[in-house]
Amino acid sequence: MKKKVLLTHPLFEEVHRKLSSNFDLEIGIKDRQDLLKKIEDKEGLLCFLKDRIDREVIERGRKLRIIANYAVGYDNIDVEAARERGIVVTNTPDLLTDATADLTWALILAVSRRVVQAHMFTVAGKFKGWEARLFLGKELRGKRLGIVGMGRIGRAVARRARGFSMEVVYHSRRNLETWREAELCARYLPLDELLQTSDIVTLHIPLTAETENLINRDRIHKLKKGAILINTARGAVIDEEALIERLKDGSLFGAGLDVYRGEPRINPEFFKLDNVVLLPHIGSATEEARLAMAHLAADNIIAVLSGKEPLTPVWR
Ligand code: NAP
Ligand code: GLV
Ligand code: GLV
Repeated sequence: MKKKVLLTHPLFEEVHRKLSSNFDLEIGIKDRQDLLKKIEDKEGLLCFLKDRIDREVIERGRKLRIIANYAVGYDNIDVEAARERGIVVTNTPDLLTDATADLTWALILAVSRRVVQAHMFTVAGKFKGWEARLFLGKELRGKRLGIVGMGRIGRAVARRARGFSMEVVYHSRRNLETWREAELCARYLPLDELLQTSDIVTLHIPLTAETENLINRDRIHKLKKGAILINTARGAVIDEEALIERLKDGSLFGAGLDVYRGEPRINPEFFKLDNVVLLPHIGSATEEARLAMAHLAADNIIAVLSGKEPLTPVWR
């Protein structure tokens, strides 16, 4: 009899075929109750970052041997509960690094040059001719880019900064090796100093117990006047209320957000601001990255359920 695998939401036909040729594949869950029911007889689970795979789900999955997250971040999974039961957890690192770094730069450019507001102005038929002061933005050359979380995506963002002739500083749990700092022309700074001195701050930390609310009210107030904050990490790492206050009073130039605390709900105060660019969590959303991620998640399930080592476990 084929082993049973649950895929919580449809992916790509070719990946469905790959999974179906190995397993008895069930696709789709209606709601949490449905997930709790469908997990009972499954050995493999391929889930999305919006699926909360907590202790209750994991305990229900008595036959479960692998949880393959279709994302690099795995804050939606109770990894400790899985580990206690010997269930492997995998994610999809690397394949989405460039896509997410590109989107981070899309936000940096969109906010600093007011691209979205200018587009809205143009399609509303308001362009009446070239003007000296129409949609003035901020130049990037020579400005300081502060990267918080210098992992795969943080480093890919740093690499791109050289093309814009920016100075790069970073904060992370550990300093990079000297050769990496030299290669990226990046200098380590303590977090508060980075926040106080950077023109643009961009967040690339995972959401963990340590990083939840890392950029709290006090730190939001440390951002210098006229600074830009970009968040493509997770919404819960920043105090959104404090950010909204500083955007409202104009003491920050703007913010670019791809992720929100409690998404898909978004604090409606953000919608009233004209100095934000808001995206619907599309950091890794390129055809190339999403297809490669889907294959990797499926390959992790195939490996583990055939007694092999997972390709990309979240711990070793
Ligand atoms: P990564 O390679 O693990 O990088 C994360 C970095 O953050 C690591 O250098 C890590 O340091 C550092 N870090 C962890 N805890 C920290 C703390 N308390 N203080 C300071 N630094 C800390 O992960 P990645 O592949 O770059 O992805 C980063 C995150 O981006 C993911 O977890 C995910 O939440 C988010 N993401 C979002 C999208 C999107 O669609 N918007 C797409 C992809 C990823 P160590 O090396 O010491 O652990
Ligand atoms: C997306 O947010 C991811 O973590 O892959
Ligand atoms: C603008 O279009 C310029 O030529 O400076």
